[in-house]
Amino acid sequence: MKKGIAPGQALQPRLQAGVKTDSLEIAVHLDGSVGTPGPAQSKAIANLNEEINRCWSGIEPMQHPIDDNLESLKTQCIGQAIEIGVDGRQDGEMGHEPNPALTDTSQHKPDDHAPLRLGLMASGNGSNFEAVARAIEAGSLNAVIKLLVVNNPGCGAQKRAERLGIPCSVVNHRQLTNRESLDRELVRQFQAADVEAIVMAGWMRIVTSVLIAGFPDRLVNIHPSLLPSFRGLDAIGQALAAGVKVSGCTVHLVTEDLDAGPIVAQSAVPVLPGDDNASLAERIHEQEHRLLPMALTELALRWRQG
Ligand code: GRF
Repeated sequence: MKKGIAPGQALQPRLQAGVKTDSLEIAVHLDGSVGTPGPAQSKAIANLNEEINRCWSGIEPMQHPIDDNLESLKTQCIGQAIEIGVDGRQDGEMGHEPNPALTDTSQHKPDDHAPLRLGLMASGNGSNFEAVARAIEAGSLNAVIKLLVVNNPGCGAQKRAERLGIPCSVVNHRQLTNRESLDRELVRQFQAADVEAIVMAGWMRIVTSVLIAGFPDRLVNIHPSLLPSFRGLDAIGQALAAGVKVSGCTVHLVTEDLDAGPIVAQSAVPVLPGDDNASLAERIHEQEHRLLPMALTELALRWRQG
């Protein structure tokens, strides 16, 4: 019988967050030209597959007391193994030192600092918004959501805010003349709510310099690909069309170039045979819900330290 292992323990002896490995390099060197990888990339991908297979082959789901879902367990192990944190690097280069902020949030006790005053923006379902709210509720993210702004009346995010008792405002872009006036209204509302930083958690509008200048270096986005691969709309569809074997999600700071600001953190997932948009999106979302609160913890620490 295979030996049972707990989620997150499987790869720890070999792979740790922020430690340089071939697998970690894959996550940051995929550049969208997948399908024609160079020899180094091919070797790295083969190494990653080997690591993943080694990890998966040791998993005996029935021996795990909490989660007997093998797929979820696999994803969790892989996500934890490949997740990386990067300190303000513009070029996707990764940090090679262990990053305690991403691996042990317990060291940031809620009393250490005042909670980070967050504003969130969402256009659709709002599962990332809720993940941030839940992390705050659970005490793993020392923050408070002062305001959620949605641009689609009645969207899932708005309903979640109502259920969670979080202040929510609807700014319908259809009633504003252009992108700048939408962003001016956002700045006005977030400033009135005394927000320190803004998270675009599924905001489906292109933002302008008005919003970026209103919260310089404090505007955070989550994107469903391993940037710099697959910027822009339908990143998951783009990844599937390119035939990549690894995809994931990225938390980054927002600059005027779409999905090209400094990378804060990434998490990778495998693209499995037979995956479609829905199945890959589900796997990526699962990682997004872990990654975004952790990245905000990392950013809060950075911002607090000035
Ligand atoms: C996420 O996949 C995020 O990366 C992208 O939009 C999606 C939002 O999902 N920017 P949800 O609304 O948070 O469920």
